Amino acid sequence: LASIEVDVAAIEPGQAIKTSWRKQPVFIRNLTPAEVADANKVAVGTLRDPQTLADRTKPGKENWLITMGVCTHLGCVPLGAAAGEVKGEFGGYFCPCHGSHYDTAGRIRKGPAPLNLQVPEFAFISDTVVKIG
Ligand code: FES
Repeated sequence: LASIEVDVAAIEPGQAIKTSWRKQPVFIRNLTPAEVADANKVAVGTLRDPQTLADRTKPGKENWLITMGVCTHLGCVPLGAAAGEVKGEFGGYFCPCHGSHYDTAGRIRKGPAPLNLQVPEFAFISDTVVKIG
């Protein structure tokens, strides 16, 4: 299926949106400096699916966390992208189906999910427009 282009200019730090691509939810999140710092202070070697925030974002755009909104356990849509939703114990996303907690880099930290939230192929085609796919 075709790629999509999303204008992210209106997403403030600390906010996220849900969009969809290939009929699956995608979360686009503008991390606050504190959320970036939280992600970067984790000892990567202790993670179930070891990746840095930099591995999951683009250089100079580390605040833009773009992931599939699909829990890697059994495919529920985690909470935390919409305003007021719980973000779980690690401040990122929380899957209520069986209690998986993802951190501010979308990495699995607690619960049954085996892998981090998948990062789709994406690129910034301008300062504020991201192409997914
Ligand atoms: Fe998310 Fe099971 S589907 S924890």
